[in-house]
Amino acid sequence: MTGVNPMDVTAVTANSFAMPFVSPSYPRDPYRFASREHLIVTYRTDPVTLRGAWTGPAALELRLHASAPLTDLPVLEVISGVHLIADLKLVLAKLSTITSPFEPLPTESFIMNSFQDKVALITGAASGIGKEIAHAFAREGAKVAIAEMRKEAAEAAAADIIAAGGIAMGVAMDVSDEAAVNAGVDSVHSAYGRIDILVSNAGIQIVHPIESFPFAEWKKMLAVHLDGAFLTTKACLKHMYATNSGSVVYIGSVHSKEASPLKAAYVTAKHGILGLSRVVAKEGAKHNVRSNVVCPGFVRTPLVDKQIPEQAKELGISEADVVKNVMLKETVDGEFTTVEDVAAAVLYFAGAKTKALTGQSLVVSHGWFME
Ligand SMILES: NC(=O)c1ccc[n+]([C@@H]2O[C@H](COP(=O)([O-])OP(=O)(O)OC[C@H]3O[C@@H](n4cnc5c(N)ncnc54)[C@H](O)[C@@H]3O)[C@@H](O)[C@H]2O)c1
Repeated sequence: MTGVNPMDVTAVTANSFAMPFVSPSYPRDPYRFASREHLIVTYRTDPVTLRGAWTGPAALELRLHASAPLTDLPVLEVISGVHLIADLKLVLAKLSTITSPFEPLPTESFIMNSFQDKVALITGAASGIGKEIAHAFAREGAKVAIAEMRKEAAEAAAADIIAAGGIAMGVAMDVSDEAAVNAGVDSVHSAYGRIDILVSNAGIQIVHPIESFPFAEWKKMLAVHLDGAFLTTKACLKHMYATNSGSVVYIGSVHSKEASPLKAAYVTAKHGILGLSRVVAKEGAKHNVRSNVVCPGFVRTPLVDKQIPEQAKELGISEADVVKNVMLKETVDGEFTTVEDVAAAVLYFAGAKTKALTGQSLVVSHGWFME
């Protein structure tokens, strides 16, 4: 690179809008012009290429990651090496103008790995907690796969992320159906070439007293939560083992550690998730795969909204009392846990540089349950 005559920055600026709307490498995912600089900033290069070519303040960020294929660089004529220097200058000029939340610089720190170019598959991500987790990964630069029961819901959720400038795909997948899980996971691997993170989040809730809990509903609960966690883990681990890295994060619950009336199947399933995660931590260790559980308290999502009238009926109290005296009674501040609270914990585990926390779980519950 040393000795190459850099292209004039103004020429690059003039040519920059020649970039195609649709990436040749990701034909379904149109890039927004607004995020072009970010994609260039995160264009994969290696430190050797940069050495001597650029000593400016962006060098640290530029070392990090890849997302823009060479063919997408905003110059009409790609002259080997030269485009890089010119783009670096363009990027430096534009860095201060980046404002969209989907255009962060990579967040690599001494605590966290960056998610730029990582592939995160999240089950049940068209709604509630999973949806926020998917957006959070996308905001941090990951390619996100939304695995959902209904194809339309999966694609609509992915379209939301793409419209906001992220990279996402929707996958139809009933997590309790082995064939659907295997096909869905393989389709994500075919599209993105890797799977780095699995967030096993899909879940349902059914409340009954044990003496009248329909057996079919008990089996359905265990199928979605436990079969789903097992099948998606099994399907993703083979791809993670192949790259000798990966992170599995399960969405457990305070009910992984605590019991409540009417929730026999849910409490049983959520306790089971802890066991599965610990085995994954032990078996995955030699493949550099970590495993953790995030255990939220009550989060105001459709799953909880459905329970409020059901519990009011079963317990013979008002809906307001269910919220105040059942769901939030033991919290320190009477507040619901938020989807953002949960997503932050998931991203922490998924990005953690240390392997010291593998096998652990974290309760995120406004003090409802402390350990
Ligand atoms: N909301 C809470 O208070 C709370 C608390 C602790 C744990 N959790 C757990 O968080 C996870 C997400 O729950 P939420 O509150 O966001 O609920 P939600 O109902 O908003 O979202 C659940 C998603 O899972 C999907 N899903 C259900 N069954 C599926 C299947 N078989 N295959 C694929 N997708 C399926 C649904 O379509 C939905 O999009 C669940 O595992 C739940 O048990 C929720």
